[in-house]
Amino acid sequence: MLSLLDLESGIWVTLRSGEQVLVRRFRRTDGEALYRFFQQGLSPESQRLYSSQPLDRSLVNIVVSETDAPDVMRLVALKGDQVVGYAYWREQLFKARMPLLSIAVADSHQGLGLGRLLMELLIETARQKGMEGMELHVFKHNLRAINLYLKLGFEIVGETDYGRQWIMALRFKPEEQ
Ligand SMILES: CC(C)(COP(=O)(O)OP(=O)(O)OC[C@H]1O[C@@H](n2cnc3c(N)ncnc32)[C@H](O)[C@@H]1OP(=O)(O)O)[C@@H](O)C(=O)NCCC(=O)NCCS
Repeated sequence: MLSLLDLESGIWVTLRSGEQVLVRRFRRTDGEALYRFFQQGLSPESQRLYSSQPLDRSLVNIVVSETDAPDVMRLVALKGDQVVGYAYWREQLFKARMPLLSIAVADSHQGLGLGRLLMELLIETARQKGMEGMELHVFKHNLRAINLYLKLGFEIVGETDYGRQWIMALRFKPEEQ
């Protein structure tokens, strides 16, 4: 079973291409690499699908400032010093045990199994931290992401963002919590 400690130093995973990437918890020193990932790793379309917030330095500064926050779990997938995947969950103010998940994979590394892998790792960390499940928001036209979430057991539970996005949820079974 995955130990949260393993993610501090990182685990090597093999993608469908045969390439190996290191997945570990986000560190304070990853800020610049995360900024490059947002700006250069994600195409404009991937940026739009990922976030309606500008992916700028002030966002990265917030992420860095939250590095040790207990209510957030952030993972990066690294190829050398380049971030090729980024995913996190954060506890929600009014649903503390159902954290909100967010994920993006660099265009160069999409379709290779990395998104699924990052999701599985995040789900496992949430279980180990005693969460009841997870939620996420996804644009209704983002069929690739929706397919992935359905395969992992998420269900559509509502809509948000003036009807543009689905709210999807995965509830852990009691024995899995
Ligand atoms: C959505 C995203 C995270 C998926 O990550 P990924 O690494 O590309 O996905 P994976 O290779 O792990 O594929 C997982 C599943 O996605 C689906 N998928 C992958 N490529 C697909 C494609 N071209 N078309 C449709 N579905 C696809 C499949 O269901 C696949 O299942 P499988 O593993 O059984 O084949 C990634 O494409 C991405 O970052 N996109 C841009 C930003 C974004 O949309 N973020 C999510 C916001 S809610």
